[in-house]
Amino acid sequence: MNDIGRRGFLARTGLALSAAVLAGAYDRAFADQQSPKNTFRNWDDLRAQFPLSRQLIHLAAFFLASHPTPVREAIERHRAGLDADPIGYWHEHEEKQEAKVLQAAADYLCADPTDIALTDSTTMGLGLLYGGLALRPGQEILTTTHDHYSTETSLRLRAERTGATVRQITLYRSLKTVSRDEIVDSLRKGVTPATRIVAVTWVHSSTGLKLPIREMALAIQSINRSRSEQDRVIFCVDGVHALGVEDFCLRDLGCDFLIAGTHKWMFGPRGTGLVWGHPKAWPIAQAIIPTFNTQAYDLWMENRSASDLPPSIHMTPGGFHSFEHRWALDEAFGFHQAIGKSKVTQRIYELNQHLKQGLAAMSHVTLHTPVSQDLSAGIVCFEVAGMEPRTVVDTLRQRKIVGSVTPYATQYARLAPSLLNSRQEIDTTLGVIRNLRSS
Ligand SMILES: Cc1ncc(COP(=O)(O)O)c(C=O)c1O
Repeated sequence: MNDIGRRGFLARTGLALSAAVLAGAYDRAFADQQSPKNTFRNWDDLRAQFPLSRQLIHLAAFFLASHPTPVREAIERHRAGLDADPIGYWHEHEEKQEAKVLQAAADYLCADPTDIALTDSTTMGLGLLYGGLALRPGQEILTTTHDHYSTETSLRLRAERTGATVRQITLYRSLKTVSRDEIVDSLRKGVTPATRIVAVTWVHSSTGLKLPIREMALAIQSINRSRSEQDRVIFCVDGVHALGVEDFCLRDLGCDFLIAGTHKWMFGPRGTGLVWGHPKAWPIAQAIIPTFNTQAYDLWMENRSASDLPPSIHMTPGGFHSFEHRWALDEAFGFHQAIGKSKVTQRIYELNQHLKQGLAAMSHVTLHTPVSQDLSAGIVCFEVAGMEPRTVVDTLRQRKIVGSVTPYATQYARLAPSLLNSRQEIDTTLGVIRNLRSS
């Protein structure tokens, strides 16, 4: 924030001093309660940091995060400060805390903080990005039949509002035979000279299938070699079920946009998310909601244009938020970094393998998610012969095992082993499913 802008106004009104004094007092008051710097000891210790019921085996934890200790404590710290002096605490923390969150996200993603916009959810990111793409007449959006409600609806709303063309393709014939080559080939064949946007989902919450995003990005890069910058295909990925599962660096992934909530596998505060864009791709995104970024706001107060600011800045929607949640997001990235990205992936894969191999061996179970971790991440979808998916999930719940039903036209029972589970819990779950029989 510059001195002429809102901070200048604050200083002139004398609020700044009292805000600083009060904020310092809150920080000191909570300093003793802060957890020691994030450290990872073992999986039991990690599990103990979540206030999740011990009566249940949580195999739908990705649905909405339970907050681990450092995230919970940070939320409480910010909440107390805001409750005691909303304007003072906001002025003291808004700029530095948002910068901290962006830096933590950038460190985790191997990205630049200025390429990241903060949102409240995956859906908000998808809606803002797809709703505001600058397309020329005749350019189309290519998407798939495998995407989530939020992608499909954002694109449909966009098409209804502007007449944009949205075309859907299927990426594979059958989950039984799907391969990375088939997916990349289908994508390559689906792109036409009119295709300006490709919108896909990294890990399908309908089936657990994981797309080979890196290979798809390479295929798109090769198509783009013969296109001018203004016609090149922009590759957008809903990465919500990969973030906090897959060990990746954005600089190596090759997509143009990654949209994700951080309140699922990342264990970030509920109501948080982000959109990352490659600096070359960001200009295609036009903001829909005015940002409250201090530089943009200050320029407005000075009757100056903010159009020279990085586009990602405009894509963090303004209005006030539940700041205690947003400002605690850096702790979730720190929590994951303390474990280590590769260890996170390894653990989730190990538990998922164990579950999938157990299910595949049961004659009354049809496993839909590919067994190979090349084509799956942390979500396992299956059916039990003669039982509705809802009945399977309800029966598991009665046995204290929490799963979910895929919220799609075709429904499956869905379990998602995560960092919160043990091998023993997977064994217990397999034991219960082994004994499930239709009546
Ligand atoms: C693939 C996918 N994208 C988007 C969403 C919506 O996520 P959010 O609740 O963060 O908006 C979900 C749902 O849970 C999902 O499975």
